[in-house]
Amino acid sequence: MSMYGRIAARRASALREAGICTFLSIESSCDETAAAVTRGFEVLGHSVHSQIALHEKYGGVVPEIASRDHVRMMDDVLNAALKDAGKTLKDIDAVAVTYGPGLVGALLCGVSYAKALAFALEIPLYAINHIEGHICANYIEKPELKPPFVCLVASGGHSHIVLAMDGGYRLLGKTRDDAAGEAFDKAARVLGLGYPGGPKLEALARGGDATAFTLPRPKVDGYDLSFSGLKTALLQSCARMEKQGGYRREDAAAAFQEAVTGQLCEKAVAAAVNSGCGKLALAGGVAANGALRQRLRAACEEAGLEFFVPSIDLCTDNARMIGAAAHLAMLKCETAGLDLNAEPSLRFVLEE
Ligand code: KG4
Ligand code: ZN
Repeated sequence: MSMYGRIAARRASALREAGICTFLSIESSCDETAAAVTRGFEVLGHSVHSQIALHEKYGGVVPEIASRDHVRMMDDVLNAALKDAGKTLKDIDAVAVTYGPGLVGALLCGVSYAKALAFALEIPLYAINHIEGHICANYIEKPELKPPFVCLVASGGHSHIVLAMDGGYRLLGKTRDDAAGEAFDKAARVLGLGYPGGPKLEALARGGDATAFTLPRPKVDGYDLSFSGLKTALLQSCARMEKQGGYRREDAAAAFQEAVTGQLCEKAVAAAVNSGCGKLALAGGVAANGALRQRLRAACEEAGLEFFVPSIDLCTDNARMIGAAAHLAMLKCETAGLDLNAEPSLRFVLEE
């Protein structure tokens, strides 16, 4: 074992013994450069730099531009998080970083930076799965939330319904085709809204009538989900109605949002009720959608489930959620070595 490896291992066991430490966490898996200083589930300071303005004119995230901007912004974002926390690097006990899933070049920026920092400061490094980070965002404002609970994770690349248990996750259902966020982005493109699709479609849907448009409810067994058929149905309905005298884009957006949130809500609530754990949490970028939040809250109330959802800016990509997941990794002494690599297709725990 290298000199760094020995020192980091010794320090990691001391941290586990103490049960709490100050983390500097980095998130760079897609189009946000983010850093956070956390202690347990408490956020001491953080910073997020969004690349939306850079990618907007291309209608989507351009991976090479994303990587270059992460490199450009990483120092500033880290310093802003430290300043926000009133801390310096001397106060940091451990480093955490998202190592997948995500864009390989973007992930590598964070992973290389985190490895260099851990090596230079001689402190332990923890590698965090982005999807687990999204789930752990729920602990930041509600540290009283304890497993077991069912969590619906809906982001740009993933849509999973999982049972969070002490020490692990069990997959209950997942999308068979597009992720929910991907479906929002594709539908936004159909409606000529551009990137980022989800928030733009939600804004348009506010002025629409969902009943003016008929979209099918996909039939999928168990707790699995499917969204690709909805996007095709939207495309066909728009073309048909165009020929019949036109349609309001607001109505199309409202109908699409209603169909996606309806399916997510129905499956997640059924999974939570049947699990018997009595709790449903929501996570991931799509959890920022107001209609979904409202619908799930109402459905949980009706089903007698306790409902958890992070504030909107904790649902979209950020490093505070990576810090929350890192706290759990620290308690399990799950450190990473300096051979850590970015894993763009990293699977979520227990996924087949
Ligand atoms: O978790 P996230 O920020 O990045 C990934 O890990 O993928 O999720 C981004 C996804 C995008 O597809 C985006 O369109 C969607 O979340 N999203 C939304 C909203 N805000 C973000 N979808 C619907 N309504 C929103 N308000
Ligand atoms: Zn995400």
